[in-house]
Amino acid sequence: MSAVLAPGQLRQRADYTHKFNAKTGRHGWLRLTPAYSLKIVEELIVNHGKAKRIFDPFCGTGTTALSAAYHGHEGVTTDINPFLIWFAQAKTARYSTREIAATRDACAEALDLVLRQAVEPVPAPPIFNIERWWSPKTLVFLRLLRAAVAKATPDGSAERSLLLIAFCRTLIEQSNAAFNHQSMSFKNDDQLTLELDIDMAGGFAEDVRFVLSGACENPSGVGKVVYGDSREPSKVVKGPFDLVITSPPYANRMSYIRELRPYMYWLGFLQNGRDAGEMDWTAIGGTWGVATSRLIDWERSTERFRSEHLSNAVDRIAHADNKNGALLAKYVAKYFDDMWAHFRDLTTILAPGAELHYIVGNSTFYGSLVSTELLYAEMLAALGFESVERRAIRKRNSKKELVEFDVVAKWKDG
Ligand SMILES: C[S@@+](CC[C@H](N)C(=O)[O-])C[C@H]1O[C@@H](n2cnc3c(N)ncnc32)[C@H](O)[C@@H]1O
Repeated sequence: MSAVLAPGQLRQRADYTHKFNAKTGRHGWLRLTPAYSLKIVEELIVNHGKAKRIFDPFCGTGTTALSAAYHGHEGVTTDINPFLIWFAQAKTARYSTREIAATRDACAEALDLVLRQAVEPVPAPPIFNIERWWSPKTLVFLRLLRAAVAKATPDGSAERSLLLIAFCRTLIEQSNAAFNHQSMSFKNDDQLTLELDIDMAGGFAEDVRFVLSGACENPSGVGKVVYGDSREPSKVVKGPFDLVITSPPYANRMSYIRELRPYMYWLGFLQNGRDAGEMDWTAIGGTWGVATSRLIDWERSTERFRSEHLSNAVDRIAHADNKNGALLAKYVAKYFDDMWAHFRDLTTILAPGAELHYIVGNSTFYGSLVSTELLYAEMLAALGFESVERRAIRKRNSKKELVEFDVVAKWKDG
């Protein structure tokens, strides 16, 4: 097992983050911070050269599957979040010229319904403190628009999906939330005043144009997006795969559901806060709501991965001078138990010689470094993977110890 560790001159490299994707057709449809850079994925696909079936067990916004399909391959991907499944399916679908034209017509019809107020607005979604997200005026507009999109498009149609993606763009652009931090924060009051003056209907029409320009670019390959738990991918997808490119959750307590909540509520994927916590409990590294309280009673499995590094890290966190130390130690232990289950099952759907790329960052808890890349490398080596390497890709922020890695490995040749 070899390690290529961060040289002092590692840079933050915005081109290796989701920021690179914003203007890149379908990849830019929604801006979600957990997405990784399309540039990394493209480089890995092109450099491999021979891959035909590419798997991403942690789909997120579908970057790998779409990229694989654009290169003429088959990209298969799973996720535990139903909204992301819906979104990635829409992102990787092929759209006919008839469907594109029908979406344009449906957009015009929906906006006409809104402007004439000729549709019953949907109820405001049950988002906690919704008034922090949208002004009363914007909220009325969004409620009318959501109802109008439903009225102007058939259930389950391509037109409906494409307009809903545009709706998701609009609801964030017209909200008081800004994406300038790792997670969303709310804009300050000055920005808020400006925000109220924008032309809402025009904003949606522009979003539809943007979505349709991406929809016109059909992939030549195939994207298959499947709901499933990556701790047991073999239950929902069929191997063998010759390349795995993925970015799993990091062990950093970031809950994807936090950022996805507005979309999920407006589109009906979430009805209340309790469901959000339940969903996050099934996610690796999830900590939203009930997912945190469940951890208190959670016990490690007897089939866990045994590693001195891991025991030391868990111990240090448990004994940190902080009242949450014991809970966070469990959080870290569970994260690695889940990843161990994932890697073990993954081996059953790999082709001989398959290549793996796990893009993942390390983390710190109360000053203790958790070297996720090292623990992945240990797990992979223990399972019989060969040529395991940890390649430092970029610095994650101003903290010099936080680095993103590509953990690379090759499955046995048979
Ligand atoms: C870092 S994100 C992946 C981002 C993706 N590479 C992209 O470009 O959008 C990790 C993803 O793993 C998913 N996830 C977490 N736990 C999971 C599980 N048990 N099974 C499947 N997916 C899971 C999360 O829902 C999230 O979408």
